Amino acid sequence: MSWPKPPAVIDAMRRALDDAGGNPGRSSHRLAMRASEIVYECREKLAQLFHIGDPLRIAFTANATAALNLALKGTLKPGDHAVFSSMEHNAVWRPLARLRERGVRLSMAAAGADGVVSAESVERAMERDTRLIALVHASNVNGAINPVAEIGRIAQQRGAMLLVDAAQTAGAVPIDVAAMHIDLLAFPGHKGLLGPAGTGGLYVRDPIRLETLVEGGTGSDSASELQPSYMPDRYESGTLNTSGIAGLNAAVGYVLDRGVAAIESAERRLATILMDGLRSIPRIRLYGPDDAGAKTGVISFTMEGRDPVVLADELEREFDVASRAGLHCAPLAHRTQGTGASGAVRFSLGESSTEQDIHAALSAVRTLAQRT
Ligand SMILES: Cc1ncc(COP(=O)(O)O)c(C=O)c1O
Repeated sequence: MSWPKPPAVIDAMRRALDDAGGNPGRSSHRLAMRASEIVYECREKLAQLFHIGDPLRIAFTANATAALNLALKGTLKPGDHAVFSSMEHNAVWRPLARLRERGVRLSMAAAGADGVVSAESVERAMERDTRLIALVHASNVNGAINPVAEIGRIAQQRGAMLLVDAAQTAGAVPIDVAAMHIDLLAFPGHKGLLGPAGTGGLYVRDPIRLETLVEGGTGSDSASELQPSYMPDRYESGTLNTSGIAGLNAAVGYVLDRGVAAIESAERRLATILMDGLRSIPRIRLYGPDDAGAKTGVISFTMEGRDPVVLADELEREFDVASRAGLHCAPLAHRTQGTGASGAVRFSLGESSTEQDIHAALSAVRTLAQRT
């Protein structure tokens, strides 16, 4: 979750509640038309951000988890084979475990010691009839960025679909679905895109058609008992989170104005200072790639002899430094990096992090490391 949100996000949400209080795609009165316009504007901005040709290929969801469930359960049938990686979040691992109970065959591509899942590892895990590769773009545990474009090329050559979990990279690392051969892209609105909680989406490459998880009113083809076959209506049953999408619309506008490459390089500069600083503190062990250029601004560490949860609590209570400790909903990734038993402490840099924040965090960790 990113915080703080740009002021324009808060304004847009407040304004939407005032002047876009109708149901988008349903009525033709002023309030509903304004809501429809905002929703479409947001689709257009997201399409621009991810280099998606047709904005209507994006369906809004409540979060990345809902998008991942739709992508996985909408494509995989009993007997199908899918590859996932040893760095996946529970948002991918648990739906896949459920699908395995229904007869989907799974193989795991193991990450290297730095948490990066190589193209070779994915290729080794593939079978002749692999239908889908589900891969996290960057780990939420140690920030390691995976070579998605290379893996996308392999998927395309071998006739498999590539589903990318962009929870950690949307808005923080450049994404081009065409150049990276991404068939399905799941993203949250509330992290690097700087939007509010309760927003997210799924891009589905044309002409892929998924089975639906939820059916209902779409404001279209209302006389039919069947769900529309076209996007985005097929996957957007029920009333959308209009005020949330209005906030996301302003947020993506902000990200586009700043530029993802500029956000990425600012975070990398701070990540380098933070990683160098942590390395200089006795008893600290860092995880993930050594080079800040190979990762996002997610930095996880352990302190020898200290429970990560207690450490995070001390950082918050004594120094007002926010971190997250434990398994980060990704036990598989923690097992992969050797912290499966008690996890690690994670600092997450954001678009608005400053050098002052980094020095405050380092000074707090240094003080705690001096204690027995
Ligand atoms: C890698 C990864 N995938 C999926 C998710 C789930 O995202 P959401 O909370 O938007 O459902 C997260 C959330 O932390 C994540 O880090």
